[in-house]
Amino acid sequence: MANAIKIEDFGDITYNPFESDELNFGNTLDPYPLIAQWRSEASVLEGDYRTKMGLVSAFYPPERKVFTVVGTSEILETLTDMDRFSNEGYKFNIGRTFGEGSISTMDNPEHGRWRKIFQKIFLPQNVKPWGEAIVDPIIKDLMDKFIPRGQADLIEEFTILYPFAIIYKQLNLPTEDIRTFQRLAIGQTDYMNADKAIEAGRKQGEYFAQLVEERRRNPGDDLVSLLANTEVDGDYLPDLVLVSFLRQLMNAAGDTTYRGTSILLTSLLNNPDQFDAIRTDHSLIPAAIEEALRWDGPVMVQMRMAKKDVVLGGVEIPAGSLLDVVAGAANRDPMIFPDPDKFDIFRERKPHFSFSRGPHICVGQHLARVEMTRALLAVMEKLPNLRFDADRPRPEIRGAMMRVPRHLYVRFGD
Ligand code: HEM
Repeated sequence: MANAIKIEDFGDITYNPFESDELNFGNTLDPYPLIAQWRSEASVLEGDYRTKMGLVSAFYPPERKVFTVVGTSEILETLTDMDRFSNEGYKFNIGRTFGEGSISTMDNPEHGRWRKIFQKIFLPQNVKPWGEAIVDPIIKDLMDKFIPRGQADLIEEFTILYPFAIIYKQLNLPTEDIRTFQRLAIGQTDYMNADKAIEAGRKQGEYFAQLVEERRRNPGDDLVSLLANTEVDGDYLPDLVLVSFLRQLMNAAGDTTYRGTSILLTSLLNNPDQFDAIRTDHSLIPAAIEEALRWDGPVMVQMRMAKKDVVLGGVEIPAGSLLDVVAGAANRDPMIFPDPDKFDIFRERKPHFSFSRGPHICVGQHLARVEMTRALLAVMEKLPNLRFDADRPRPEIRGAMMRVPRHLYVRFGD
């Protein structure tokens, strides 16, 4: 009985997980000059990224050594060499809230075994049809609510809502509970209020464990049913892995794309000539999306752990040390991207680092691109003469760990 399962909100319903963003991910306006300075000193620095950025460092056990990796070839080495670098570092944060079965915390062969099952769902050919069928109607519903006003906060009323609504629909969760689920999904990464993050993970975990059972009995055409009934070597996917993946999906699918779309729209409004060029020629959309992701990617840092004693960038790193791998440093490396601080959709295209690299590269990258494309198309089609609202503050992209503008006040129409 679908109705027998009910999601439970935080015990403290006054708690607002969105307000913890600054505490968890920082409020730095421009972290890039500092990162460039580090890179000019060394490729690998002793100490953790959060502390260097002036944030409270709460993730790591104090006895572990931590290093910050900012050189591009060292970043690539760390993200791709699974013999020397492990994803176990994520057990200290993600693993505690998404669950021990999160693929982000795993190494091969375990990682590859489960990842290939999840990855299949999000292959380009599988997510492309979601654009018209799923993404567009959700965007239309949200925009219809503010279009008559001729003004909006595109963050609060659009970008923070649409990617979550898409994954929510694909999992076929109860419409009336969407806000509770989004609060729990975001709360899962409130590591500075660890009790809340753990509560959020536990509540979603209990819910999804029951839902998986239910959809094995009564399968539908949603993703939970598909995964719950997927067999591997004659057995179902282990609940630990499946439930962790669903918890991770709720967060990863909603949070990062909201940030990416918000940064894309802010960058284009700040560069009206480039925005006009895209309006005239829609074939520039993919270049605009990749450039926004490169110029200010939502996720600045990945975590890894040294499996053995290693030398990286000339620095000796003892086994068990944790590494903060700064993807945002590689994205602004002048040796790869000339004049790297400039947002330029016409620059020579080279692969960026915003979806990471190596075996853990983002599973949802193709979906994110479909979503950002549909969002940009809708903005251009439905919000003519789009401009910053002159009576409200301009957006500021902020954060040291994760980046996003908090508001994007616009006017459109006459
Ligand atoms: C612009 C949007 C997005 C950005 C910038 C982004 C970024 C990232 C990054 C940097 C990683 C790798 C972390 C690492 O190497 O340790 C990652 C992994 C992951 N992402 Fe995304 N992501 C986005 C959208 C999505 C979406 C829409 C989904 C949902 C389908 C998703 C699901 C995942 C999952 C499940 C992983 C773990 C992969 C693994 O460990 O094998 N992401 N993402």
